[in-house]
Amino acid sequence: MRFATRLDRVPPYLFAEIERRIAAMRADGVDVISLGIGDPDLPTPAPVVEALQRAAEQPATHQYPSNRGLSAFREAVAGFYAVRFDVDIDAETEIIPVLGGKEAVAHVALACLDPGDVALSPDPGYPPYTSGPVFSGADVHYLPLREENAFMPDLEAIPPETASRANLLYFNYPNNPTGAVVTDGFFERAVAFAGERDLVAIHDSAYTEIAFDGYRPPSFLASPGAKEVGAEIFSLSKGWNMTGWRVGWIAGNAEVVERYRQLKTNLDSGMFDALQLAGAAALTEARDFPREMSEIYRRRRDLMIDALAAIGIAADPPRATPYLWIRVPDGHDSASFTELVLEQAAVIVSPGPSFGPSGEGYVRISLTVADERLEEAASRIASSLRVESRA
Ligand SMILES: Cc1ncc(COP(=O)(O)O)c(C=O)c1O
Repeated sequence: MRFATRLDRVPPYLFAEIERRIAAMRADGVDVISLGIGDPDLPTPAPVVEALQRAAEQPATHQYPSNRGLSAFREAVAGFYAVRFDVDIDAETEIIPVLGGKEAVAHVALACLDPGDVALSPDPGYPPYTSGPVFSGADVHYLPLREENAFMPDLEAIPPETASRANLLYFNYPNNPTGAVVTDGFFERAVAFAGERDLVAIHDSAYTEIAFDGYRPPSFLASPGAKEVGAEIFSLSKGWNMTGWRVGWIAGNAEVVERYRQLKTNLDSGMFDALQLAGAAALTEARDFPREMSEIYRRRRDLMIDALAAIGIAADPPRATPYLWIRVPDGHDSASFTELVLEQAAVIVSPGPSFGPSGEGYVRISLTVADERLEEAASRIASSLRVESRA
């Protein structure tokens, strides 16, 4: 058999490889602690589960949904944006449900890019910022996110020839994997950059609801002109512990939303209506749930930062996201440190370069495990470093 070469043009999906290794170690009886994947460990809030149960009992939800989405879902999204972000969105034309943020991040590339076009993608960044454009036949130009620039891309540094071929700009704040939050003026610069070059700006706001110490991350759509140049992808996965549900949306520029709908009518038949009603319940009946989750992640963040500091690994506490982006100790690169803690401590962390070349020198630790497991992981990492320093 012969398969499409596009599949060979992207590296194996990081988390598929991590899952394979966890399964192999567990099969050997090893007590593995995975801090590799950002999959919330706690349950979805009860009002959302109950809304799904009620909705699933209604036969009207059992037929094909429409790709456009139920007006109840779109209205709930518009209501959420108005209250949470002070952003006015037309529920008729500026919102469409997506089956999780991931499919939207990847598929928006198919709606925007032709072969020979360029996508501007953050590096390090969520892998579909690469695979979506590559599957579209486009080229990816990485925008390095460096610590000295507060992990913001330098749009001015993009070579003019590359910028002129670009038709899609991805950005993501609060950021995975760095935990960085948007700096003042960046969204405005992104609007200007996209407007001047007539390209589509896509903000991935998967993590706006997980934030600490009083910080409330803004929506890109709150920036003047944002709706003229692009859209925002939002997901209920992280804030509402709903990774398994696959509920999100893309909102913003009506033409982007309409083109996305057009693409999706050829790929799937929309989101199960009962899920949309449950998603609406998350936004209305459980709107403040992410704040409770944020408090849990804040506690875990502090616990892990303290434990790492005690073994000489200093890290700034992030103001958002359930991730710590940690510089590996001297004498290590990302791969050797990941391997050390895996072999010596049975702790899985994500090596920085799996998010792109600029991730070298870092690992990402996910806080989506219980406090006692985090404590255990930190003490095992400490022992593995002690073993190594004696060797
Ligand atoms: C930056 C970023 N965007 C989008 C997603 C998509 O999440 P989901 O597909 O569960 O909505 C994730 C998940 O980890 C992410 O890290």
